[in-house]
Amino acid sequence: MKTVKIVIAALVLIFIAVQFIPSGIPENKPEDDKSIANDSLVAGPVLEQFRKSCFDCHSNQTNLPWYSKVAPSSWLLAGHINEGRSYLNFSEWAAYSNREKIGLLDDIRNEVSSGKMPLKSYLLIHGEAKLGSAETSAILKWADEAMAGIID
Ligand code: HEC
Repeated sequence: MKTVKIVIAALVLIFIAVQFIPSGIPENKPEDDKSIANDSLVAGPVLEQFRKSCFDCHSNQTNLPWYSKVAPSSWLLAGHINEGRSYLNFSEWAAYSNREKIGLLDDIRNEVSSGKMPLKSYLLIHGEAKLGSAETSAILKWADEAMAGIID
């Protein structure tokens, strides 16, 4: 019994100690004119869908849940947000070159049509972010139109 108590006490201490390690979750920034929200190629409903399903990992406006303050879940979140923003950041959309935008539109098409995005682990907690077939078709149509608009 004594060993069990020592192990539990050690685990509690480790849990408390890791809370002092910085999580690495990047700062949020206010939405400015570089945001995709200001791109005339983005139609309203699709933008709202991106806000609902993608912005937590692919924008500078992440809604952080309470467990973002608790290690080790905070580390997992930091990984998703940093990696997500580095691949595609809707808040910095205007800063991408046309070539980058075309590449990203193509990636968005692939990720959404194959059901890889939003991440499965995220959907477990954010059921409202799930894309149904109507939402998926709207995004694919938008991506095609946006691409045509850039190539024109
Ligand atoms: C929970 C966080 C999260 C959410 C929500 C999310 N993504 Fe991602 N996304 C990531 C991460 C992490 C990566 C990089 C690693 C990978 O591809 O899995 C990524 C990668 C991508 C890429 C680049 C893929 C590649 O390999 O070229 C695209 C495009 C993308 N996401 C689009 C979206 C779209 C569109 C949505 C919303 C419909 C979305 N993501 C929602 C975390 C997320």
